[in-house]
Amino acid sequence: MNPSRAPIIAGNWKMQHGGRSGCELAASLRRELGDPRGVTVIVAPPFTALAAVSAELDGSPIAVAGQNLHAAPSGAFTGEISAAMLSEAGASWVIVGHSERRQLFGETDASVAQKTAAALSAGLRPIVCVGETLEERDAGRTFDVVLSQARAVLDALAASGGVHALAYEPVWAIGTGRNATAAQAEEVHARLRALLAETSPALAASTPILYGGSVKPDNASALLACANVDGALVGGASLDAAQFLAIVAAAHRA
Ligand code: PGA
Repeated sequence: MNPSRAPIIAGNWKMQHGGRSGCELAASLRRELGDPRGVTVIVAPPFTALAAVSAELDGSPIAVAGQNLHAAPSGAFTGEISAAMLSEAGASWVIVGHSERRQLFGETDASVAQKTAAALSAGLRPIVCVGETLEERDAGRTFDVVLSQARAVLDALAASGGVHALAYEPVWAIGTGRNATAAQAEEVHARLRALLAETSPALAASTPILYGGSVKPDNASALLACANVDGALVGGASLDAAQFLAIVAAAHRA
């Protein structure tokens, strides 16, 4: 990590810990976190638990994120949630373009760019996810894929001047227990930072780039020690307070 960028540890609960168990997890995190010592700690519960988890965390240093949003401010979009609705429910961040959204729900670079712009214009901080599949990596296309996904949101990020983050999440590392090595992560993060620098050095310097994909307490330190890894987007290990807080502690030490 680079000391000029505050580390971010974000927990993506996915379709787990709705309602009551989400509130219990949030209460444990709040009780046991203590002083986050400069680490931005975020949890992303399912939509139905957002307001309750936000209330549980009110006044604590833990921020809340949505896992997705619709790009339109309102309208006839059955089953969808707007940026303003997320804010109203207490979210200050939102995950955009997670690979599960891209692969299972048909999100494209264009829709991810629209959602990113919508989040920023409503004052939400997007965490935009990019990442290659195993097939793409094996075909030597990692940089092509990741950089073109990131390029799609560059204009929105540069134009807003707001707070945002990128997350590099290799699809083959998500939920598989097979994390990218520190060297593999750093190689991609450095390329992403160089891409941001083509738009502006300030954008490159100020954009946190998180790593996600099987981050656990025992591999977090090595990943977070990389110069261009500014935090982690954590799935499975964020469902358990002790594991998630051990990753936050690794960010303190990095
Ligand atoms: P994982 O998920 O930590 O369970 O691999 C990461 C993510 O999908 O954000």
